Amino acid sequence: MEYRQLGRTGLRVSALGFGCGSVGGLLVRGDHKDMVEAVARAIESGINYFDTARSYGSGRSETNLGIAVRELGAELLIGTKVDLRTEEMHDIEGSVIASVEGSLKRLGRDRVDLIQLHNPIASQRRPERGWVSVDDAETALQAFEKLKAQGKVGHCGINGLGETPAIHRFIAAGLADTTQTAYNLLNPSAGQRVPRGFPFQDYEQLIDRAVEMQMGTIAIRVLAAGALSGSMARHRTAAQGVGPIGTSASYAEDVVLARRFSFLVDEGYVDSLIEAAIRFVIGNTAVSTTLVGLSNMAQLELAISFANKGPLPAEALDHLNGIWANLATD
Ligand SMILES: NC(=O)c1ccc[n+]([C@@H]2O[C@H](COP(=O)([O-])OP(=O)(O)OC[C@H]3O[C@@H](n4cnc5c(N)ncnc54)[C@H](OP(=O)(O)O)[C@@H]3O)[C@@H](O)[C@H]2O)c1
Repeated sequence: MEYRQLGRTGLRVSALGFGCGSVGGLLVRGDHKDMVEAVARAIESGINYFDTARSYGSGRSETNLGIAVRELGAELLIGTKVDLRTEEMHDIEGSVIASVEGSLKRLGRDRVDLIQLHNPIASQRRPERGWVSVDDAETALQAFEKLKAQGKVGHCGINGLGETPAIHRFIAAGLADTTQTAYNLLNPSAGQRVPRGFPFQDYEQLIDRAVEMQMGTIAIRVLAAGALSGSMARHRTAAQGVGPIGTSASYAEDVVLARRFSFLVDEGYVDSLIEAAIRFVIGNTAVSTTLVGLSNMAQLELAISFANKGPLPAEALDHLNGIWANLATD
C-alpha cells in the first residue's frame, strides 16, 4: 500500500481509505462478524485511515467502528464529523463540543485524529439544506481548535461541498488542515479544468487550491455512490436510494453516463468500470487518501487490488478528455 502526506498534519495516510458511511453500509447495517473481518483485512492490506461521522446510521457507524477497533486491538487513524442540525446552529461552539463528546463516547476513545465539519459551506446559512455560512464554518473551526487544545482531536477539516466560491474562500482562509472532496470520473472538476458547458458543479480545482494551502485532500464519492459500476443493482447492505453529489440529478442518470466510460474495459485498459474509477482518483497524487464505500468483503478485496495497480495508463487518460468534452456539448 502506498502512503501519502495528509497535508500539513504530519500524518501519513494510506492511498486507499475505508469509508464507513451509510451508502455502502457495511459498518452501519452489516453483521458484526463481517464488520470485524473487513476492518481486520483492511488493516492487514495497509489501510490506516477510516472515515466515519455522527450522522452515518445515527451514530451506528461510529459505535461499530469503535467495537471493531477495540476487538482487534488495532492502531489506526480515525476521522469523524460534526453535522450541525438546524436546532444546533444557534450555538455552534456548544453544539460542536457536544457532538464531538458524543462521537468519542460512541467510538470508545479519548481522541480522534481528525474532526471535520460535515455541513456544506455557502455564502449564506441555509438550514433547510443543512448548509452553513463561511462565518458559521469559522466558528466551528474555532471550536475544533479548543478541542485540539484539550487533546480530544488531532487535526481539523471541512467538507468541500456546497457553493464553489464559498468553499474556495474558506480554503483560502487557511483555517482547516483537510478537505473532503467529491471527485470522480463523472465529475473530475476538483482535480482539473473541465470544458466550457460541463454539466455538473465545477469545483474549480479545489484539490490544487488545497495543496497550495498545505491541506490534505480526502476524496469522496469516487464511485459516484456505486453508479460508476454502470449497474443499477444495489447490494442488500447498501442504502437503496442515494442522492448524487456533484453529478446528475439522479443515480439512474449517473449509471447511464457511467457506461460512456466502458471503452476503458472494451479496449483492455481495465477489467471493470470500478477499477477505472478507483485508479483514476488514486492516480492524482495530490489526493491524500481515496475513500471507497463498501457493502461487503468482496468489494474491499477489489478496492485493495485496484488501488495497488496504481494510476490508469497515460493513453487511457488521454481518451477521457474526449468523454468529458462530449458531456459538455450534449
Ligand atoms: N463528506 C461527505 O459529505 C461524504 C459524502 C459521501 C461519502 N463520504 C465518505 O466517503 C465514503 C465513500 O463514499 P460513498 O460510499 O458515499 O460512495 P462511493 O464510494 O462512491 O460508492 C460506494 C458504493 O460503490 C459500490 N461499490 C463499491 N465497490 C464495488 C465493487 N467492487 N463493485 C460494484 N460496486 C461497488 C457499492 O454499491 P453497492 O453497495 O450497491 O454494491 C457502494 O455502496 C463514505 O463511506 C464516507 O466515509 C463523505
